[in-house]
Amino acid sequence: MKKTLIITGGAGFIGSHVVRLFVRKYPDYQIVNLDALTYAGNLENLTDIASFPNYRFEKVDITDSERLIALFKTCQPDGVVHLAAESHVDRSITDPFAFIRTNVMGTCNLLHAAKELWKGAMDGKRFYHVSTDEVYGALTVDGVRFTEHTRYDPHSPYSASKAASDHFVRAYHDTYGLPVVLSNCSNNYGSHHFPEKLIPLAINNIRHNRPIPIYGKGENVRDWLYVEDHARAIDTIFHHGKDGETYNIGGNNEWTNIDLIRLLCKIMDEKLGRAQGTSEKLITFVTDRAGHDLRYAIDSDKLQRELGWQPSLKLEEGLEKTVDWYLANTAWVERVTSGVYQQYYEKQYGK
Ligand code: NAD
Ligand code: DAU
Repeated sequence: MKKTLIITGGAGFIGSHVVRLFVRKYPDYQIVNLDALTYAGNLENLTDIASFPNYRFEKVDITDSERLIALFKTCQPDGVVHLAAESHVDRSITDPFAFIRTNVMGTCNLLHAAKELWKGAMDGKRFYHVSTDEVYGALTVDGVRFTEHTRYDPHSPYSASKAASDHFVRAYHDTYGLPVVLSNCSNNYGSHHFPEKLIPLAINNIRHNRPIPIYGKGENVRDWLYVEDHARAIDTIFHHGKDGETYNIGGNNEWTNIDLIRLLCKIMDEKLGRAQGTSEKLITFVTDRAGHDLRYAIDSDKLQRELGWQPSLKLEEGLEKTVDWYLANTAWVERVTSGVYQQYYEKQYGK
């Protein structure tokens, strides 16, 4: 069936995997990648599909409501998959307002544009909001995991902004009948991950023999999901999720940061032909992140039971694949760390 979908944040880490999956899997869909190309947006993530006839890029900032309304009028989307966001917790501590503008106001602008375009004809339309497990706050009881009924308790400006956006999405469903679906996912890892986040930062630092900064004592626990598994979950939920529902997505891979980094050090020593124990010497404990949540863990039973999705990789397998990608794509990392990647848009599309 022919459809036009707007995917926001498609030049980012997860968004680029979602765009690639949809463009390749659904040749009948027109996929519009809407992205402002902030520091986190990199069109080089999508060079393999950039010339596909069912793909197109639009440089638009979701904080610009008028631009959004105009684009919705010309594109006439049947669906929106919304991933665009400021996504890094540390940046939210130094600049919370950037997170309020994009994550809260930007999401409201998108909801408004969809409501205005679809009013009176909501059948077959879908607004999918991609959110995070961080809205649930920190787990303190062993064995307990976040379910879709866990009370919201965000602690960072990032998670507070995502929580606010989730509430607005549900409010547009309940108030205006906007056909929405939401998911809250745990920590992703994999290829094209911006090297400010723990795993790609550590891979890059190990390669250059630089210190690996571990916040506090490294005892914080995260539940890691391979990014392609997340993209598959988004595809499943977008097509089969029930209207107004929320689905938790998780990897069932809980690791303390220190154990994760020790495993990564072993893999890197092996791949780089260094003596075992070499990379571990780079581990450096630094001042903890303010408001650092101790443990996240997702119960994704609802998604598995109702829609049949399963994570496909354990962390050990996914991490090795990830390291292989970073070592085979050092040019990508160099272009990101030097800032050269930001010239790609002008070269490809002009000013
Ligand atoms: P990312 O930072 O890698 O990418 C974000 C993308 O959004 C970039 O391409 C950026 O240019 C774009 N963007 C930012 N502000 C924009 C604006 N104002 N207008 C238009 N585009 C804008 O993020 P990610 O890690 O890929 O996360 C994508 C989504 O998934 C986010 O909503 C995030 O909250 C959510 N999420 C991420 C994780 C994770 O582990 N990375 C886990 C769960 C949920
Ligand atoms: O849980 C989902 C969230 O996962 C997403 O919503 C966020 O967008 C995404 O960035 C990620 O948030 P985290 O804060 O968990 O990811 P980050 O890679 O920044 O940190 C992972 C853990 O590692 C966390 O406990 C903080 C710690 N850390 C991070 C960095 C960057 C360090 O110890 N040292 C570091 O240098």
